[in-house]
Amino acid sequence: MNAIEIRNLSKSFRSMYAVDHLNMTVPIGAIYGFIGENGSGKSTTEKLICGHLVPDCGEIKLFGKDFTDPGVRVRVGALIENAGCFPGSSVYQNLMMQAINLGIENPDEEIRRVLSIVRMESNAELKFKKCSLGMKQRIGIAMALLGDPALLILDEPINGLDTDGMRIMREILVDITKNYGCTVLISSHILGELEKIATHYGIIRRGKMIMELSAEEMDSRAQVFVSLKTKDMEGAKQLLSGNFADVRLEEEHIRVYDVDDTEKIVDCLMRGGHVVSEIKKNKIGLEEYYVELMSRKEDK
Ligand SMILES: Nc1ncnc2c1ncn2[C@@H]1O[C@H](COP(=O)(O)OP(=O)(O)OP(=O)(O)O)[C@@H](O)[C@H]1O
Ligand SMILES: [Mg+2]
Repeated sequence: MNAIEIRNLSKSFRSMYAVDHLNMTVPIGAIYGFIGENGSGKSTTEKLICGHLVPDCGEIKLFGKDFTDPGVRVRVGALIENAGCFPGSSVYQNLMMQAINLGIENPDEEIRRVLSIVRMESNAELKFKKCSLGMKQRIGIAMALLGDPALLILDEPINGLDTDGMRIMREILVDITKNYGCTVLISSHILGELEKIATHYGIIRRGKMIMELSAEEMDSRAQVFVSLKTKDMEGAKQLLSGNFADVRLEEEHIRVYDVDDTEKIVDCLMRGGHVVSEIKKNKIGLEEYYVELMSRKEDK
């Protein structure tokens, strides 16, 4: 059984497909990074899962049940766009209104629980409008966590956060999955951040899922390369190109792809009279993988 299983899901606006026969599988316990350029259909997919929009066709199963099943609906928490808080009310009051709406027993206890997960226990009395963007995002997550959901759907929760805000958000999301058994679906443009926590990825383009893969698969597909610097970069590149299959001159480094034997490279350069001032083994990250994948699909 998976947390989310989507088959053939479509949603059109004025005869344009925003989500186009999309398939998606999110395993239980995953942090699933949902990636795609602007307008590719991420938010629409998330709204469909949450029941905020009605699909044209297709099947959405959550924990093995149809997504309209009331038993399963209460297990889903979401933060899409914003938390819909009252600016003049305190963090606590906003959470209380939502807890009452959801019919939660012992709302005070539940609010303390979610505030501690998002590390905002000491800010409960702060007015929402006085909160920083990072705090507001965490309040949104606290709202979504009310009632102890098994699945959390977050639309771009790290957009606009500073380095510290992103780090806290990362720690919270890992905590939610590891210690509270929650599955997280998170859309984001900030691939470098997503890469630090995601266990799975789904790449959407023009409403279609073009690839789903686990972080391990991503890691094994990511090309290895050696990057290096010498005084005469052009000359070194020419020499290396005659000895290795894929050599590229980037801004400040030469990259030799699909090779991780640095000694062989240094040896080749030394025999050609080049002094290597810097050399490092590397692996392309999610960002570069994504850009390459997109450029390969450009004409399709
Ligand atoms: N309510 C709506 N009415 C008409 N068109 C819509 C509506 N919502 C979304 N769309 C269109 O559907 C497509 C997908 O939009 P969506 O918001 O799902 O993309 P996204 O991947 O979330 O983009 P972003 O990264 O910018 O948030 C876009 O072309 C968008 O203009
Ligand atoms: Mg969006």
